[in-house]
Amino acid sequence: MGVEVSVEGLTKSFGSQRIWQDVTLTLPAGEVSALLGPSGTGKSVFLKSLIGLLRPEQGSIVIDGTNILECSSKELYEIRKLFGVLFQDGALFGSMNLFDNVAFPLREHTKKSESEIRKIVMEKMELVGLLGAEDKLPGEISGGMRKRAGLARALVLDPQIILVDEPDSGLDPVRTTYISQTLIDINAEIDATILIVSHNINLARTVPDNIGMLFRRHLVMFGPREVLLTSEEPVVKQFLNGTMIGPIGMSEEKDEAQMAQEQAMVDAGHHAGGVDDVEGIVPQMKATPGMPFRQAVARRQERVRHIMHTLPENAQIAIQESLDETSGGNGGGGYDYAYSQEDTQVIPAYRGEGYENTTHGQG
Ligand SMILES: Nc1ncnc2c1ncn2[C@@H]1O[C@H](COP(=O)(O)OP(=O)(O)OP(=O)(O)O)[C@@H](O)[C@H]1O
Ligand SMILES: [Mg+2]
Repeated sequence: MGVEVSVEGLTKSFGSQRIWQDVTLTLPAGEVSALLGPSGTGKSVFLKSLIGLLRPEQGSIVIDGTNILECSSKELYEIRKLFGVLFQDGALFGSMNLFDNVAFPLREHTKKSESEIRKIVMEKMELVGLLGAEDKLPGEISGGMRKRAGLARALVLDPQIILVDEPDSGLDPVRTTYISQTLIDINAEIDATILIVSHNINLARTVPDNIGMLFRRHLVMFGPREVLLTSEEPVVKQFLNGTMIGPIGMSEEKDEAQMAQEQAMVDAGHHAGGVDDVEGIVPQMKATPGMPFRQAVARRQERVRHIMHTLPENAQIAIQESLDETSGGNGGGGYDYAYSQEDTQVIPAYRGEGYENTTHGQG
């Protein structure tokens, strides 16, 4: 199973420019998490910090028991082998064909024979839909294909932690859904801890188990998907709906005067953009039939059950609904597959305590 990544009090600046401060979150082992946030809020800087390519000045990043901000370079080298990373720009070697690009980590970090390497590379190329393109140079393929080649390369070492920076950028909506499905399937297959950075609302609503958001140098929230997807925070609602009305502006700082001016324009009939109806929870994507069960689903259910009483009321209601759906039938709702006898016994016992408490407040 993938390993937990625990970040505490993390602060990063470049010179006098503070990127984000006091970021605390845990990527639960083997679960899929997503980090959202407007452009320039430091999502890529955060990913690079997790693998030790950038060095935050304060806080800790504990991976598999090692704080990578304090460990030796030899320990960091070992920790890095746990990771598969898809960088935002794909970061392929321009002079190597796709086969050699994808094979690179295997040749660099393992003593596998060329025939073993070929087998692994072709398997990953097939997974990302690039079979037949092995001989192409990165300059000869589309942006979306480069992205998928980068993902194949991130997977060849069977990583325990997978970081993907905007896997959807440059992809059409259909390919974005395919890549979303691929990420879910990878999680089902190797049970890796996955962090996806994305701007894509469909992906954010349907793929991750957990979602966080960076805005104005802070982590606005991080937790089970139901928390962000039911949030009433203006910045979250604006982001999910993609409208101009709200605290996010074209540049990072939007002042009260600009907000009032934009609101006045919209009140006078100007279209604020966005789609206006992005609200609430939609079912989470499941692994493709025939794949192994996503073990993360049952683990997450158990974990969320324990922290549920600490979550906002909207999130509690949404979580309870999904628990009811999974315990009431064969996965009709937002969760994968059936559960073991033990799990279904646990859920009704819980229902009696937590949910009633939350509804008392409403009644
Ligand atoms: N190596 C660096 N040196 C100095 N400043 C940097 C460096 N890398 C990033 N920055 C700055 O950090 C800020 C956050 O950048 P980052 O690339 O993490 O944003 P992002 O949230 O990933 O944005 P996008 O959604 O557009 O990819 C930006 O202001 C950027 O200029
Ligand atoms: Mg980025």
